[in-house]
Amino acid sequence: MKGIILAGGSATRLYPVTLAVSKQMLPVYDKPMIYYPLSTLMMAGIKEVLIISTPVHIGAFEALLGDGSKLGMKFEYKIQEKPVGLADAFILGADFIGNDNVALILGDNMIYGSRIERVLKAASKLKEGGIIFGYQVADPTSYGVVEIDKKGKAISIEEKPAEPKSHLAVPGIYFYDNDVVKIAKTIKPSERGELEITDVNKAYMKKGKLQVIPLGSGYAWFDTGTPDRLGDASDFVKAIQLRQGVQIGCLEEIAYRNEWISKDALLEEAKKYKKTEYGKYLKKVADQDFKQYKEVFESELFN
Ligand code: DAU
Repeated sequence: MKGIILAGGSATRLYPVTLAVSKQMLPVYDKPMIYYPLSTLMMAGIKEVLIISTPVHIGAFEALLGDGSKLGMKFEYKIQEKPVGLADAFILGADFIGNDNVALILGDNMIYGSRIERVLKAASKLKEGGIIFGYQVADPTSYGVVEIDKKGKAISIEEKPAEPKSHLAVPGIYFYDNDVVKIAKTIKPSERGELEITDVNKAYMKKGKLQVIPLGSGYAWFDTGTPDRLGDASDFVKAIQLRQGVQIGCLEEIAYRNEWISKDALLEEAKKYKKTEYGKYLKKVADQDFKQYKEVFESELFN
């Protein structure tokens, strides 16, 4: 499966901060925002990623992330001339996707939870159709909202409804089979003039091929579209990291644990950041015998 990060848009709700800087470059506590969605794709086991951004900002992402080889990955970049909608990612990414399945994550979404890696890995094994998630929020009116039956099957999905049929908001991470490219090409712009991801999901739902995985109270999901939500995400990362001494969204750590980079490569990266807590943490990860824990986590007990 391949991955796409959509990191464009104009982020007007964060003006003046985003007048000259890409939103997905802003810090969420101690890392650029894009680290978090990238780490989510990595946890799903996805090694090939296309990063889409604006003509003005694409170069900064390339400077930050390079060709991915330092993480044992492969990154490509694509410009989106205008923010015409989330489903445009599959049209712009058609060549990159080729004949594969694909996961899309929005560059401003962050998901955290103790079992998230397992959930993502399972979703990435999808054979047919689409998989989305449902996350209960107090006020879902600014999101895609999905209604499910008792068996977890989607029965309605609407974009930013004034009167939501449920409290299940749809986070900005989606897994699809290769049909998504064809489907995206048939979508017409909505009233707000965008190619809506919700219309892609509706197309899968109509065919009975949209699976919804509800993420319960053991998960945190943030989108960082407003100053308050950005602050909440930063506070959350800070609280967990300082309390537990673990990093959230640490790309080099995930690459190492996925066995995509060697211990030497990890130590090399640790040296680069040696003046920071991030660098000290990388060194600590390299010094641990994580395989010992890996066996425990992968044992029957946790399955
Ligand atoms: O955050 C989850 C929500 O994201 C979903 O629940 C909604 O169903 C989905 O439509 C989307 O809603 P938003 O209104 O939050 O989307 P927004 O326009 O803010 O775009 C999300 C991100 O994607 C943002 O970081 C900018 C980027 N983007 C957006 C558009 C429309 C692009 O890179 N290109 C685009 O064309």
